[in-house]
Amino acid sequence: MRRTIDWTGGAIEIIDQCALPGEYRTLILRTVDELIDAIQRLAVRGAPALGAAGALGVALAARSGSADVVAEAEKVAKSRPTAVNLSWGVARALAKLPGGADAVLAEALAILDEDERLNHEASGHAAELVLRECGRKPVRLLTHCNAGRLATVSWGSALGVVWHLHARGLVESVLVDETRPLLQGARLTAWELAEAGVPYRVQPDSAAASAMARGMVDCVLVGADRIAANGDVANKIGTYGLAIAAAHHRIPFVVVAPSSTVDESLPTGADIVIEERAAEEITHAAGSPVTPPGSAVFNPAFDVTPAALITAVVTEHGVRAP
Ligand code: MRU
Repeated sequence: MRRTIDWTGGAIEIIDQCALPGEYRTLILRTVDELIDAIQRLAVRGAPALGAAGALGVALAARSGSADVVAEAEKVAKSRPTAVNLSWGVARALAKLPGGADAVLAEALAILDEDERLNHEASGHAAELVLRECGRKPVRLLTHCNAGRLATVSWGSALGVVWHLHARGLVESVLVDETRPLLQGARLTAWELAEAGVPYRVQPDSAAASAMARGMVDCVLVGADRIAANGDVANKIGTYGLAIAAAHHRIPFVVVAPSSTVDESLPTGADIVIEERAAEEITHAAGSPVTPPGSAVFNPAFDVTPAALITAVVTEHGVRAP
């Protein structure tokens, strides 16, 4: 399968995640403004993929002959606030600017290669943890949002665990939270699992606690957008509720992410900026209104799960118990 995001012919090429699962197509992004638009529309999304997008955005700016590459880079870094990978990717690429545009691009491409390797390693460590926690038998997993190939350059973090275990015949099934309001689970995770031939069922987010109570879940696996120094984890809205339900039912709750998602500058999750998105994502479905006109909306894109509810945060360095 091709990379979710790559550099080709002097531009950025992404798999257009707004079009999936109906249509598989790619988009070419030739300017920083096109990249920012794609990031804000979630045509490219997921924390590790945003790290790659940030770095490639600086490469675009540096090669465009822009008079102020630093200002362009800052615009990219600020296009979404919660996933630390975005500003991390921008900063890493920008640090190479004194070496010229080719040095910036080389650094961005190195980030893409690293992302593939580090997510493969992190999810490999997490797969071993899952087997230790659940016993060496085919497991029933539950996941939220999309932490798969489409959220990274090519492998996936939480879904990377599924790929490792499935290759060994150790996945019985995956329950996929649809992930309202933008349906990253129903549209993207289900699409990836179908492509890979992994048995799955999509469920409304509100069914997750009930599935746990009915003994249908051996382990919950999620990705992360920012991990504070104390192990608090920001991830897609609804993750916190899942962690509470998993703790209540004594089900392991495992977070998988590359170390670029760890923000050691934040002592706890309380300081993580949570993106709030447009009211239309809640007031409308497929373009039609689903609320009375003028309804006020609370639409946070992420929440923060306290470290105490998390069994383990797993990066390429291995298991880190909060
Ligand atoms: O708003 P999104 O789709 O970018 O949110 C993505 C998530 O919350 C993912 O779970 C997270 O980025 C981890 S992806 C490996």
